Amino acid sequence: MRKQIAAANWKMNLTAQQAENLMNELVALPHQLYEHQQAIFAVPFPYLQMIEQKLHGKQNVFVAAQNCYYKKNGAFTGEVSVEMLQSININHVIIGHSERREYFNETNEVLALKVNHCLENNVTPIFCCGEPLAVRESNTQESFVAKQLDESLFHLSAEQIIKVVIAYEPIWAIGTGKTATSEQAQDIHLFIRNHIAAKYSERIANEISILYGGSVKAANAKEIFSQPDVDGGLVGGAALNAQEFNTIINSLK
Ligand code: PGA
Repeated sequence: MRKQIAAANWKMNLTAQQAENLMNELVALPHQLYEHQQAIFAVPFPYLQMIEQKLHGKQNVFVAAQNCYYKKNGAFTGEVSVEMLQSININHVIIGHSERREYFNETNEVLALKVNHCLENNVTPIFCCGEPLAVRESNTQESFVAKQLDESLFHLSAEQIIKVVIAYEPIWAIGTGKTATSEQAQDIHLFIRNHIAAKYSERIANEISILYGGSVKAANAKEIFSQPDVDGGLVGGAALNAQEFNTIINSLK
């Protein structure tokens, strides 16, 4: 069975003390991760090590960065490389979140370089895709998402793409309280899987985890995750509350 993943995206939230409190509260709550399930915490750079140390040794639990640069090292003030992340045991990174595309002008081409850099260093990219409201309203979300995949992922070999986690996040559902219906999520997840199958193979497509993101919360996680092509979620707001996120972890299939 492909991996079912509850990924928390803390974004630019919480002080160090608040981050520590949240994690202490969360680890004390009852949850069980089976072999095929994972919990991933994408936290701000300054807290990576602290959270990693707190979770170190826990089965199927990982800490992720929210971004990285695509160069190995050098004069790139303010950037963080994959080698740096690896050197502190961080082996997952969110790539191409819609907020980075929108506010930091990250293009499909730049994201392809970032994905390459991750894979060359055995770091798992959690690659985000998803359409804005206008695209959804014109019912062209499939071609929009296909282009994001074509331009940022489809240069990869089969052995490489199988290591990528995809997060489909419709921009109109992020932080808006407006969730895609579970049917809408299933439809586009199936489209993404079929698109991968057409380029690679059905076997490859069936092994790639596709997470849904956009106003996932304790109250809707089980319903969304129950869809056959939804393999968990990338969670923003609700991941800042220990009880909420714990319920989301426990909603994985
Ligand atoms: P949200 O954010 O759960 O607050 O909608 C999801 C995300 O942006 O990853």
